[in-house]
Amino acid sequence: MKHLRETIEDDFMARESRKIAVIGAGNVGATCAFVMAERKLGEIVLLDIYEGFAKGKALDMSQGGQVLNYDGKITGTSKYEDISGADVVVVTSGFPRQPGMSREDLIGKNAEIISQVGAGIRDYAPDSVVIMVTNPLDLMTYHMQKVTGFDPKKVIGQAGILDSARMTHFVAQAVGCSNEDVQAMVLGGHGDTMVPLPRYTTVGGIPITQLLKSDEIDAISKRTASGGGEIVKLLERGSAFYAPGSAAAIMAESVLNDRKRMLPCSTLLTGQYGLEDVYIGVPVLLGKDGVENIVELELEDDELNSLQSSANFYKSQLSDILGY
Ligand code: LAC
Repeated sequence: MKHLRETIEDDFMARESRKIAVIGAGNVGATCAFVMAERKLGEIVLLDIYEGFAKGKALDMSQGGQVLNYDGKITGTSKYEDISGADVVVVTSGFPRQPGMSREDLIGKNAEIISQVGAGIRDYAPDSVVIMVTNPLDLMTYHMQKVTGFDPKKVIGQAGILDSARMTHFVAQAVGCSNEDVQAMVLGGHGDTMVPLPRYTTVGGIPITQLLKSDEIDAISKRTASGGGEIVKLLERGSAFYAPGSAAAIMAESVLNDRKRMLPCSTLLTGQYGLEDVYIGVPVLLGKDGVENIVELELEDDELNSLQSSANFYKSQLSDILGY
């Protein structure tokens, strides 16, 4: 039988052998790191252009370990060499939107940032799976894949989990049930063109089309699509971070623990849904290799049209603004 100390050491080794880098120590990055620390996913490196900001947050989080019962190394840095060997890199850097802005208004400024971040990841964490959070999400994920040259399966955008979580919450409120029993499905781009799918949204396995009136469902779909904007307006500066940061952490968990969860994420389509060469949100299987399978749902004509027009909107932004 192993001595207790050996067992504890083995446990530490297993956790410490996995490294997660979070680029951008702002609200979304710090929330993501905090959730990953609590879930004991591995060593965490927070990287920010403001070194003290990253170090201070890392130290604060490390001290929270005693209170919330997690261990492991959490460090802050401004140097890309410190992300060497990362298994997963979560990218949150960039400007958040302010009231009155669309996510697409951030495109120029954030594309420049992603070019720099992508070069750092390519040079220092060439074997990592990259989870993108920076807005405009689907465009920045496409740009990141091009900058790194990584296999597209290993560059994935977070949005569908967040958008589905918002829909889930609104459905739970309307039905008067626990969030836990609701499964929502939101496809398309992470913006005004997103496509909530009530037919694929269930409460305890029952489609919401059997539980709620159609005007209630329409209101939920509309509120979901403008869910991020509703929070931007309330906060008056910056945008949401608890749900977005947690959603990115859940993606990292599925990759690090090879859980093969089926989650809506932004991925590069290669003919699925009649679309190609565009990153857009669809259900995927997430495991250690990143996107291990892209699921093609059976869609009705209006649903497919909405998904295709969402993708075409982003395709035109890719060519007109980013020059792809
Ligand atoms: C949102 C931002 C993070 O939807 O895109 O809240």
